[in-house]
Amino acid sequence: KKKAFVDALLAKMTLDEKIGQLNLPSSGDFTTGLAKSSDIGKKVEQGLVGGLFNIKGADKIKAVQKVAVENSRLKIPMIFGMDVIHGYETTFPIPLGLAASWDMNLVQQSARVAAKEAAADGINWTFSPMVDISREPRWGRVSEGSGEDPYLGSEISKNMVYGYQGKDLANGTNILACVKHFALYGAGEAGRDYNTVDMSHVRMFNEYFPPYKAAVDAGVASVMASFNEVDGVPATGNRWLQTEVLRNQWKFKGFVVTDYTGINEMVDHGMGDLQQVSALALKAGVDMDMVGEGFLTTLKKSLSEGKVTQAEIDMAARRILEAKYDLGLFDNPYKHGDAKLAAKEVYSMENRNIARTAAAQSMVLMKNENQILPLKKSGTVAVIGPLVNNSMNMAGTWSVATKHAVSVNLMQGLQANYGKEVKFLSAKGANIDYDAKLEDIYAAHGKKTDRDNRSKEALLKEAVDVANKADVIVLAIGESAEMSGESSSRTEITIPQSQVDLLNELKKTGKPIALVLFTGRPLALTNVKDTPDAILNAWFPGSEAGNAIADVLFGKVNPSGKLPMTFPRSLGQIPIYYNAKNTGRPLSQELTDKCEYQRFRSNYMDECNTPLYPFGYGLSYSKFNYSDVTVSNANPKGNQTVQASVTVTNSGNYDGAEVVQLYIRDLVGTITRPVKELKGFQKVMLKKGESKKVTFDITPEQLKFYNGDLKYDWEAGDFDIMIGTNSEEVKHSKINWTK
Ligand code: IFM
Repeated sequence: KKKAFVDALLAKMTLDEKIGQLNLPSSGDFTTGLAKSSDIGKKVEQGLVGGLFNIKGADKIKAVQKVAVENSRLKIPMIFGMDVIHGYETTFPIPLGLAASWDMNLVQQSARVAAKEAAADGINWTFSPMVDISREPRWGRVSEGSGEDPYLGSEISKNMVYGYQGKDLANGTNILACVKHFALYGAGEAGRDYNTVDMSHVRMFNEYFPPYKAAVDAGVASVMASFNEVDGVPATGNRWLQTEVLRNQWKFKGFVVTDYTGINEMVDHGMGDLQQVSALALKAGVDMDMVGEGFLTTLKKSLSEGKVTQAEIDMAARRILEAKYDLGLFDNPYKHGDAKLAAKEVYSMENRNIARTAAAQSMVLMKNENQILPLKKSGTVAVIGPLVNNSMNMAGTWSVATKHAVSVNLMQGLQANYGKEVKFLSAKGANIDYDAKLEDIYAAHGKKTDRDNRSKEALLKEAVDVANKADVIVLAIGESAEMSGESSSRTEITIPQSQVDLLNELKKTGKPIALVLFTGRPLALTNVKDTPDAILNAWFPGSEAGNAIADVLFGKVNPSGKLPMTFPRSLGQIPIYYNAKNTGRPLSQELTDKCEYQRFRSNYMDECNTPLYPFGYGLSYSKFNYSDVTVSNANPKGNQTVQASVTVTNSGNYDGAEVVQLYIRDLVGTITRPVKELKGFQKVMLKKGESKKVTFDITPEQLKFYNGDLKYDWEAGDFDIMIGTNSEEVKHSKINWTK
């Protein structure tokens, strides 16, 4: 039915109208790139626009759709896109934070809530999930992804797609997902945004491609091409990537959209003029051109000169029309967007409660000496730092629909939840340091920086005076929201010095300090980690930030988040990631643990090999003990299933959740294999004193990898089976698997 419908429509369309479907301008309600689109209203009437993005509001969207379906010749409805990345108006933790929850139901639910809110407000296409694996904390966009691991990243990727798209796209609360940025955008050299990528195919397929493929397997409707090059050809013009891998190997059936002016940027990449690069993109398998109008202004000429074919243009137009058909827009172009429904659905208390849960689940307790957390519900607490009274900075990057001014900040959350029992005093203590540089960006997002013009000394003095009146200090410091995200690469990944100075001044008061860290990336915390008694990494928690932090600080929620990305000791260790190769000259485990240097081994003269906090790390107010690992069969054969189990005991004083992690090492291979790879995890709830047996099924499927010929298969031999509380603290068992 769909094919017949689209065939009939294509038969009626002029060449211009077909090319028009491939055009995706930005309306300019907000800015997510530098260029501007031209004469949108007129073009909609002429049938020269396939979709529109960066427009917000049900009525506004309806008005544009009305022009398309009433004034254009063929009345083809448009799709409306937006970067709904971690929630819509109800904003969830940044994706890196959400990944730290290791809770796939919650991940899916966050996407569901986002889809429902966005759809009620007229949006039917989100540019999410962003699944770029990255080992580069210098890169600001690590905040938007799920971290360094292909397995965790893939689980999150598919759950996000299910959450956005639901079972049936024609249901008006489901929206098209768009997995991005295909591919390898997280591997830019030196962590500089938009920079060159160069990678072996073995690494691509085994370590960077899995989360994109997981989205495709989950039925994602669209894919966004990345800005970077792959094998020397920009992804936007890379036929091997967009057609051979994506469509021929992975059987992707949806449409490919460029990133913002991705086609035009191929001119700067050195691939030719706008006509040449537009033809290159179309021939590579790209269907829709975001903002740059390369398709719109050159494809007709290219067709007449034989540089592209009619079939290529038809195919791209077909894929866009099919997506509109799947959304049910030809039956009802107004099915998304209803101002009355939006008023009820968007930013509802129900949604905010889910966001509060997600935020609390995303937080990672990195340190808790003398069990200073949870805080007592009495006495006086000094709440100090530039991120205390700072609603504008709670949501983090890519929160274009967020109502920043009403996001619950830390002071509001503490007062609202514990203000009756506890006296809270507050002081700013320092500026964030980067504020000045970021003023323009803030302005573009309709925000103001929160810079305090008093002298550094005056700010410090006020903070120390407040601290002296309190029993305990809660210090909220770290990055501001705009210090991570797109175009926010840093060469220093430390807490800005003004705030480190504040921490050191407060230490002199002798009061216990619980540091609440705001960050969009792994930071090198070596210079601060010994000073506070506790460190709670809150990432950027979203609209409910203050409430969720209060929940965790006072023990209503026992923290259970685990790092989805390694925290290095220093910048010099980057890239550092848990699933590394052994090398031919590994440092012994003993010397690694002792951080001792050995000549002619793979290590540093001036730094340990271990990270500050490893992948999978995170503490609880309780304590979990692991038994040895048992396996149901140490010598499996062929397609058998092996059960690997541990018993986990909550031996602490609080009920709590623990993320039990399964890692496998393939000891001998036809290509070198990582020292361990995450292959499963379970988040289990344990009452205090309770023990639970946790079992993982292992099949040859989990042992498969792409070999030197890029064949996906497993190889017989010895496997180290590891289960533990993070990627470093694991118990081992061995199996030998024959074919
Ligand atoms: O979706 C984004 C992308 O991630 C970065 N460039 C702009 C796009 C649209 O806003």
